[in-house]
Amino acid sequence: MSHSSLSALPAPDRLDVTARLRDALLEASFTADGLLELLGAPAYAALARSEIVPALRATRGDTPLEMLVRLFLLQQPVPHARVEGVLPVDACLESGWLVRAGTDEVAATVDVRPYGGAGGEDWFIVSDLGCAVGGAGGIGSREEGVVLGVGGASTTLAGITVRTPVSAALDLGTGSGIQALHAAQHATRVTATDINPRALHITALTLALSGAPAADLREGSLFEPLRDDETYDLIVSNPPFVISPGARLTYRDGGMGGDDLCRTLVQQAGERLNEGGFAQFLANWQHVEGEDWQDRLRAWVPRGCDAWIVQREVQDVTQYAELWLRDAGDHRGDPAEYQARYDAWLDEFEARKVKAVGFGWITLRKTGAAVPSVTAEEWPHPVEQPLGETVREHFERLDYLRTHDDAALLTGHFKLAPEIVQEQVGLPGAEDPEHVVLRQNRGMRRATKVDTVGAGFAGVCDGSLSAGRILDAIAQLVGEDPVLLRDRTPAQIRLLVEQGFLEPA
Ligand SMILES: C[S@@+](CC[C@H](N)C(=O)[O-])C[C@H]1O[C@@H](n2cnc3c(N)ncnc32)[C@H](O)[C@@H]1O
Repeated sequence: MSHSSLSALPAPDRLDVTARLRDALLEASFTADGLLELLGAPAYAALARSEIVPALRATRGDTPLEMLVRLFLLQQPVPHARVEGVLPVDACLESGWLVRAGTDEVAATVDVRPYGGAGGEDWFIVSDLGCAVGGAGGIGSREEGVVLGVGGASTTLAGITVRTPVSAALDLGTGSGIQALHAAQHATRVTATDINPRALHITALTLALSGAPAADLREGSLFEPLRDDETYDLIVSNPPFVISPGARLTYRDGGMGGDDLCRTLVQQAGERLNEGGFAQFLANWQHVEGEDWQDRLRAWVPRGCDAWIVQREVQDVTQYAELWLRDAGDHRGDPAEYQARYDAWLDEFEARKVKAVGFGWITLRKTGAAVPSVTAEEWPHPVEQPLGETVREHFERLDYLRTHDDAALLTGHFKLAPEIVQEQVGLPGAEDPEHVVLRQNRGMRRATKVDTVGAGFAGVCDGSLSAGRILDAIAQLVGEDPVLLRDRTPAQIRLLVEQGFLEPA
């Protein structure tokens, strides 16, 4: 492994300098809000597409903030004399945050991206140069050990993570340390692992520069760095989930063949969870000829765990290969090499009989229940992040449903969840709708078809009457046999509870 073109990193143990650097960055409003205000939304958004020209144009002045953006986000050297009053320059040079460039300029050794915490915290994510935003495509990096900053996958995982206070959290494949940083806000102890020692070094810098407590950093693959008896209340991982022909980039290629890395991660998480604990992963999975993707994923779920698997997107193998070829900037290189790589990708899929690849979220919760509840569903529509509370409540409702048979459901009381609307679908002008849809405006933003009884039932649910009493009233209203209605409706109630339209009161 060669790290030749990756720069030497700042010293992780110079906490005095890191604290002074943090103060200086905050003083100059080098924060998520400050950055957005300075760059404007289009230039800010362009950064996420690895386009820096708009940001360079927006930072041609010489205010402290403009200089810091050029230095720490746009990889531009700045005059030593100009940053002298803004940063502890000499200490930064000595501890390795900065290096001399030319005769009178300084350059950053890492990218530093201001990042706003959910509670308004001003944090900083450290990554390799050119990797703060937009992935490796921006720098066309071929270095296998390069450490990326924040990407869409990072913020998706951070958003779906259950944020209840816990004593021990594990961030597996920590990279820049973004998940560990989030976890440090609600976990007493955070363990962060990575197979890439450079990532652990960078995680230490991210945590220190963000003013967060240090994590327990461990080098190694998957769960290997843990002691046999080590268990956690929360495990999160945005793993190197890309299904690719051969491991090339550590941050994305798991190097285990097909979707084996994701499968292993999910399977082995079960025995690492404490009772009631959550494990949350982003993953890619193969759609194999003649196999139902849901069956494939269900088989991954470890014993003693409930699971919620959400497939957010499916790409055919050509779209998938192109996505990752572009991610690595391969499309900008030699066309013959590009074609050979593309070919290799399709060869790999052909050999595995893979037709498409699913992208999504896998959440496990350890319950020890004899009959675990496993939901594998497709929901490609927009959702409202953060979803951590929605995820927690999903599993809480599963517990309720597991412990309530149909008779118990009918004696139960339910409340319609907030911000649910009813939509009637049918031909324009028709007297009766063809069907009724209930739609959530929060969380998963689900929509579900119901019949008129289901819609009427949901509408009356304010927690005061039992489900059975409501059904009896509806039966009388529509002239249906109440016994039959009590018999056939629990399945619908169950679904509405499971999907969060109705909450047990
Ligand atoms: C997609 S990055 C995620 C980084 C960060 N956690 C985030 O959410 O942005 C995957 C990380 O997993 C690490 N990794 C790769 N293979 C691994 C393995 N077998 N075991 C543990 N970590 C691994 C990579 O070095 C990289 O830092």
